Amino acid sequence: MIIDLRSDTVTKPTKGMLDAMMHAQVGDDVFREDPTVNELESKMAAMFGKESALFFPSGTMANQTAIKLHTNPGEQVICDKYAHIYNYESGGASFNSGVSCKLIDGKRGMFTAEQVKEAINPDDYYYSKTSLVEVENTTNKGGGACWDFNEILKIRKVCDENNLGFHLDGARLWNALIETKQTTLQYGKVFDTISVCLSKGLGCPVGSVLVGDAKIMKDALRIRKIFGGNMRQAGYLAAAGIYALDNHVERLKEDHKKAKEIGELLSDLSVVKSVEPIETNIVIFELNDDVDDKKFVENLAGKEIFIIPMGGKKLRMVTHLNYNATMHEKFLTILKSNSF
Ligand SMILES: Cc1ncc(COP(=O)(O)O)c(C=O)c1O
Repeated sequence: MIIDLRSDTVTKPTKGMLDAMMHAQVGDDVFREDPTVNELESKMAAMFGKESALFFPSGTMANQTAIKLHTNPGEQVICDKYAHIYNYESGGASFNSGVSCKLIDGKRGMFTAEQVKEAINPDDYYYSKTSLVEVENTTNKGGGACWDFNEILKIRKVCDENNLGFHLDGARLWNALIETKQTTLQYGKVFDTISVCLSKGLGCPVGSVLVGDAKIMKDALRIRKIFGGNMRQAGYLAAAGIYALDNHVERLKEDHKKAKEIGELLSDLSVVKSVEPIETNIVIFELNDDVDDKKFVENLAGKEIFIIPMGGKKLRMVTHLNYNATMHEKFLTILKSNSF
């Protein structure tokens, strides 16, 4: 039995999801004639209380489009040093939009309104113009941490006072909402644009959506086209998204519970130095200095358990839809044996 905990992106569609995909009504989305894509976009826009939503093939493209919508070349985006847009989007912010990132030294991928204030460049011609603040919730490199919504509200105020756009990378926003009992409408009110992924915790094979009001989203279609993101009968994929929104959100609690149970046993392992607080489905832990992380990962792989290194002695595991109860029981038994 293979236990793949490298990411929540390794999931395969469930039978119910495949059925929904097989029965989807489709059309040419480049002509905006795919009824299922249109349904997903309307549903998402309504969920967030926004005027517009656009379906994307990836979270990266949705984020990159948002950066392009909010900025002009030469300008600057404020984000955390752990941000996905800075670390894991292949330098896309500079390549696609010609912007630089001002990195905040936050905690677990999160920062404060005060730190944002300090990061805004003065309004002198020799500075890069600050134009966007980007937040990630939950934070990926930060170990699935959830933002304090009050801090987000304070950052919104700073954005308003300084005429800055406010974008949320909500690849795992669903995990945060389930955990904090907040709503999509609350988030829609605060952010100018939000990207959400269907292909992470929600278990779709492909798909992300960018939401925002009509004014900011005006050029989103054109930018998606420039990035090569136009799709034709994409309704088959959108159907998976609609199915996931209706069936896979509540169950994220199970992933969070499993992650916490893994974390508790990990912290008892003699080879483990520390386990970061576990709030959602991501477990990041650090091995003792004298433990070879490569060997640790290989040892687990030998037992058909796959996890990924995060640099240094840090390792990451992510629970998900396809990590079932049997796998969990087996993995907990291995962890209890402390044979590493
Ligand atoms: C926080 C975050 N944002 C964006 C993305 C990008 O999503 P995609 O892999 O669909 O491009 C990821 C992917 O893991 C992510 O974790």
